[in-house]
Amino acid sequence: MSPVSSASTGEPWRVGVLFSRTGFMAIIEETQVRGTLIAIEEINEGGGINGREVVPVIYDPSSENALFRAHAKRMIVEDQLSTIFGCYTSSSRKAVLPIVERLNCLLWYPTLYEGFEYSPNVIYTGAAPNQNSLSLCEYLTGHYGSRFYFIGSDYVYPRESNRIMRELVNRRGGQVIGERYVALRASRPDFVPIMNEIVRLSPDIIFSTVVGESTVHLYQAYADFGFDPRNMPIASLTTTEAEIRAMGAGVGEGHITAASYFESLPGATNSAFVKRYKRRFGSDQSTNMCVEAAYFQVHLFARALELANSLDPEILRPMVLGAAFNAPQGTVSIDADCSHANLWSRIGRVNGHGHFDVVQESSCLVPPDPFLTGTGFGRLIPA
Ligand code: ACM
Repeated sequence: MSPVSSASTGEPWRVGVLFSRTGFMAIIEETQVRGTLIAIEEINEGGGINGREVVPVIYDPSSENALFRAHAKRMIVEDQLSTIFGCYTSSSRKAVLPIVERLNCLLWYPTLYEGFEYSPNVIYTGAAPNQNSLSLCEYLTGHYGSRFYFIGSDYVYPRESNRIMRELVNRRGGQVIGERYVALRASRPDFVPIMNEIVRLSPDIIFSTVVGESTVHLYQAYADFGFDPRNMPIASLTTTEAEIRAMGAGVGEGHITAASYFESLPGATNSAFVKRYKRRFGSDQSTNMCVEAAYFQVHLFARALELANSLDPEILRPMVLGAAFNAPQGTVSIDADCSHANLWSRIGRVNGHGHFDVVQESSCLVPPDPFLTGTGFGRLIPA
């Protein structure tokens, strides 16, 4: 049983929020705190859930996996929480996973990742590889060429994401001509030897799985070398409006990201979302795919909680599976078989204002296929 029973006490619904507000991942994870908070504020302005307010209990793990683990444990054991919204890096999710499984908590994870994972204690609301890598590879080979160079931060998501991308590239007759990893805290000089190798190898595309503040250093090093994104763009699954803002629109212009959401999407739902975000956090601030997933997952949680009227994961989880919400990216829902989200698939190119022009999008929701079983990629499953 979870620490929180189904009794209707009239007390607030207390939920954990676990993203880095300091350290090298704060550039993106702070935006996930904000997405979580504005959804909670909207829910409370609407009267809460079954008349009870939602109260966030926020911890800052400072971009350290050991602190993610320690704070998750404290949230569950000491604070008696059974719902946590949190984690950006796959290494932090994997640090938290044994705790949420052993203590039976529900972790809502709003970040694209490498797939090949399923836990009954996790609701995955970011993209799986079939919802971003697949279309990105097709787009890049169709528009830029077939010689790829991979750069990643050195941890599980980049290495696994590159394994999948290599397979996709090879299947389309392309080749990966270089693959390099840098430390998670890499700075601009760390990318210089890599840029020198890129000069020598002259790939058609750089596929980046660099995350956090290092993203800014990578794109700036690329600009320092005078490369032209029209001939050799950096393509990514993680570079959002937040990193583009930090590096400057001039540095980001022309580069490519595959995501379910961009701030520039049309439609009344997104426009109200962006307006609210700017009003709350500043007119110079931008939404991004990670804010949006952090936001809509809280609304999905609220719908499920309204039906369950309990934070006990055993009672709440069945209400989550199949739940839908009209999100800023379009309607999204949780697949009842694999606990991952049905999402839209889009490709954007950064324009001179630091926003993404959508250059390709799916005609319908793309179902999650975290183990790439339904798309003919069975042999990508680790033995
Ligand atoms: C990630 O580490 N899932 C971006």
